[in-house]
Amino acid sequence: MNENTIHGGVKWQSPSNIALVKYWGKRPGMTQIPQNPSISLTLSRCHTETAIFFEESDRFGLHFRFDGKENPEFQTKIADFLKTQMPRFPFLNRMDLHIDSHNSFPHSSGIASSASSMSALVLCLLDINMSLRGAELCGATRQSIIDFSEASRLSRLASGSACRSLFPKAALWGATTACQGSSDEYAVSLENTIAPVFKTLHDSILIVSDAKKAVSSRAGHALMDTNPYATTRYAQANSNIIDLLNALKTGDLEQFIHITESEAMQLHALMMCSNPSFILMKPNTLRIINTIHEFRHETGIPLCFTLDAGPNVHLLYPDQHAEMVERFIMDELEHYCHEGQWIPDRVGDGPSRC
Ligand code: PMV
Repeated sequence: MNENTIHGGVKWQSPSNIALVKYWGKRPGMTQIPQNPSISLTLSRCHTETAIFFEESDRFGLHFRFDGKENPEFQTKIADFLKTQMPRFPFLNRMDLHIDSHNSFPHSSGIASSASSMSALVLCLLDINMSLRGAELCGATRQSIIDFSEASRLSRLASGSACRSLFPKAALWGATTACQGSSDEYAVSLENTIAPVFKTLHDSILIVSDAKKAVSSRAGHALMDTNPYATTRYAQANSNIIDLLNALKTGDLEQFIHITESEAMQLHALMMCSNPSFILMKPNTLRIINTIHEFRHETGIPLCFTLDAGPNVHLLYPDQHAEMVERFIMDELEHYCHEGQWIPDRVGDGPSRC
């Protein structure tokens, strides 16, 4: 490499998130605009670390490695996204990018990694852009001047739910009169609006199956276009947003549990009545849900579950009850998990520059 060649490196870590009010359905003909607002918790342990080494070239070049190995499927997805971003980041037209990406959670855990990986990628792009514009700043300063709303907007274009991963603790994506400043184009932070108890939440992810998703998110969202309950669903999601925001603000755990579990069930009910229909829960998913309900009823401990578009169960509970709940997981739930696997995650602080 010629010493005058422009080159450098950046590295970001970005978390996954779990939706409480689900994003399921896109507005047709628009670029990843949701049919309804969604709210998520930002995770901590489940994250992606992405490093990009860039080097001036006469054209765009991409060399992508996932966990140290080439991965043609991810490489294509990332190349497609980067090509759409060339007008926003003209430097891409004359740069060789060497991207190394790594997930903290097992690749075979059935946990979608697009939220963490795409938000980490976008943060790297914004950081490179800043350094090419001559910003000689230290890492901490760079992190503080990154425009996280812009990072959220760009992440949304790569993967809808990724736009919620940019903020500490909790985020809301989608325009709603219940939240000032909310937008369909990017997520906003809920960190300063939620009661302290929600900042302590644990999310123990019970791995019921490590199989790849039976239906991709893209196909799943498209099924909503013909779902007979779509209109009712979007109205319901909007009212759940209002009620959940209220519960999050006031610290109302009972209402939080009611809405969170109802949203998880609705997501799966929508799947079951789509055409074609899908059953994404497994027998052990149902066994776990029933056991959680019994435990809550018997102990009064405010724990609840949510589900993503798959069979794994996210068990949510305040830190204050962690010891009791973790004993409960080991005694009564672990044997329903694939090879006894569960990931002890909790609400986290959002992305960081490494
Ligand atoms: O971001 P996508 O297109 O992978 O969609 C995510 C959909 C759900 O995970 C099921 C719900 C959500 O809001 O995260």
